[in-house]
Amino acid sequence: MARITASVYTSHVPAIGAAMDLHKTAEPYWQPVFAGYDFSRRWLREHTPDVVVLVYNDHANAFSLDCIPTFALGTAAEFGIADEGWGPRPVPPVMGHPELAAHIAQSVIQQDFDLTLVNRMEVDHGLTVPLSLLCGERDPQREPWPFRVIPLAVNVVQYPVPSGRRCYALGQAIARAVQSFDEDLNVQIWGTGGMSHQLQGARAGLINRAWDNAFLDRLIADPAGLAQLPHIDYVREAGSEGIELVMWLIARGAMADCATPPSGPAPRVTHRFYHVPASNTAVGHLILEA
Ligand code: DHB
Ligand code: FE
Repeated sequence: MARITASVYTSHVPAIGAAMDLHKTAEPYWQPVFAGYDFSRRWLREHTPDVVVLVYNDHANAFSLDCIPTFALGTAAEFGIADEGWGPRPVPPVMGHPELAAHIAQSVIQQDFDLTLVNRMEVDHGLTVPLSLLCGERDPQREPWPFRVIPLAVNVVQYPVPSGRRCYALGQAIARAVQSFDEDLNVQIWGTGGMSHQLQGARAGLINRAWDNAFLDRLIADPAGLAQLPHIDYVREAGSEGIELVMWLIARGAMADCATPPSGPAPRVTHRFYHVPASNTAVGHLILEA
């Protein structure tokens, strides 16, 4: 049986990827950001899963205004690295897990979620920056990512976006799907994006430390309550791009204590980190173990 053993949460700032690719991580501006992931990299080496369901958002690279899927599951064997305007990042391709992805699709769609299935897709910084943060620098030719990845792209770019409540329920459905997969697999689910940031308009540069930290507190201790927060609250308090945080509720909803009825105890907080600034963004990071 496949099991969700942990959930990981992290911001996905594109400049973090650039700092790694250009070997600037030791510079004074970046050093405190990466210091927050030293523990996580050691932890992940000791707790390497077989598969990560990686919840992220595409930033008009794989999708555009031509086609706006709310929840798009990557079912391919391999995902290329998107060129976001300055060449693809020099990181390994992302290897999928078509069998588990097909099973999740079957189970989750039968649980009444209308997933879009994507058999060919390139992945952008929303997915590769979390991988780089947690796995460290890798030679694209010789050092593949240490696990397979099932991308789950959520539309948080073009309105209407899904509610936190819907995201949380999707996480619960994914947990049921994973548990009913026959093969013995160690699965993690990662929620990415956020924390507070606004890239545009009169409030560009907005950061809200108090709100971000209250979000982390509630994500840990009161995820079902947090899931009720309307999306306008995210935008008002965490900025227009702070809405990316609804994706964290998918990962949290997939933990055993969120099942109805609960199928396990509340997760252990293995690591928590918060730092401002990184580019225009507050960086938040959590590891919760089942
Ligand atoms: C930044 C953050 C993002 O989430 C993003 O997708 C693009 C840019 C930033 O902080 O610059
Ligand atoms: Fe983003």
